[in-house]
Amino acid sequence: MSKSPVRVAVTGAAGQIGYALLFRIAAGEMLGKDQPVVLQLLEIPDEKAQKALKGVMMELEDCAFPLLAGMEAHSDPMTAFKDVDYALLVGARPRGPGMERKDLLSANAQIFTAQGKALNAVASRNVKVLVVGNPANTNAYIAMKSAPDLPRRNFTAMLRLDHNRAASQIAARTGKPVASIEKLTVWGNHSPTMYADYRFATIGGQSVKQLINDDAWNRDTFLPTVGKRGAAIIEARGLSSAASAANAAIDHMRDWVLGSNGKWVTMGIPSDGQYDIPQDVVFGFPVTTENGEYKLVEGLEIDAFSRERINLTLKELLEEQDGVKHLL
Ligand code: NAD
Ligand code: LMR
Repeated sequence: MSKSPVRVAVTGAAGQIGYALLFRIAAGEMLGKDQPVVLQLLEIPDEKAQKALKGVMMELEDCAFPLLAGMEAHSDPMTAFKDVDYALLVGARPRGPGMERKDLLSANAQIFTAQGKALNAVASRNVKVLVVGNPANTNAYIAMKSAPDLPRRNFTAMLRLDHNRAASQIAARTGKPVASIEKLTVWGNHSPTMYADYRFATIGGQSVKQLINDDAWNRDTFLPTVGKRGAAIIEARGLSSAASAANAAIDHMRDWVLGSNGKWVTMGIPSDGQYDIPQDVVFGFPVTTENGEYKLVEGLEIDAFSRERINLTLKELLEEQDGVKHLL
């Protein structure tokens, strides 16, 4: 018997990531090839954005996806998020000329406060939320704080792109297939301060740290390459990453919903105080996923170098939180 459709909200649906994401969701790559979906698409009320969204919906229609059970265009989160089971919050205000980071934070804080409140009011009580729009960790924190009636653990931020970037760098360095890498993680903020950590990683049972055996490469090449990859793509393409970001969003949600089969994946999740990360800070952690739930990998040893890196990315997140606390 076929499953009944689930409702998936995507914000910023007419943007670059939206264009790389929606067709894959409708093809069943995120929630399974047997799971029909209704897409509830949110864009800003601006006439041009709404017109572009209509164009994307025409293309979705023209794909005749068997799993696409319906789609709707919205300009108000209160209607877009009605009864949604999944919400991918991609739309955000990008940094414009002359804007400081602080301006971006407060502009986006307003968006994510309103969207958190709307989720709180009208979404399914079990809605799973992924925040992609930057600054992703702090935007997820704001949405979570604005939705007090929903489970806080259901608000997550995207660190999966950083995880995938780290995996590819390790595959290239070791000459091993990317799929063979286990137990890799990225701690902290989706920003250049993130700490990609392969101390526990293995390939075919062998330690990646021992295979590479080069601390200078870790510190001087690997960490800066992964941390600054977003900027390198903007520099090369003139636009920020879109297909790889959409791919990471699919990976994040698919593993959360369908399970990671024991594999570690990285998710930005609200802390419960583990690893000395204060309660509620949305932080990249290693998790495993099963039956629609994620479970933090606990008890890992944090050496002095790692503690220093983790403290650095935590400090940045606490500063971001401080910058928006007047809005919460
Ligand atoms: P884009 O500018 O192409 O598209 C963003 C879309 O969001 C636009 O169509 C805009 O109209 C819409 N939008 C803006 N405010 C909105 C709101 N309040 N409600 C609904 N829609 C809104 O940008 P993009 O390349 O698709 O990137 C989207 C975001 O994702 C950016 O913040 C970008 O920095 C971020 N990003 C995050 C990661 C990550 O790993 N976490 C990776 C890549 C990009
Ligand atoms: C990325 O990591 O590619 C995005 O967050 C875009 C950016 O601003 O770096």
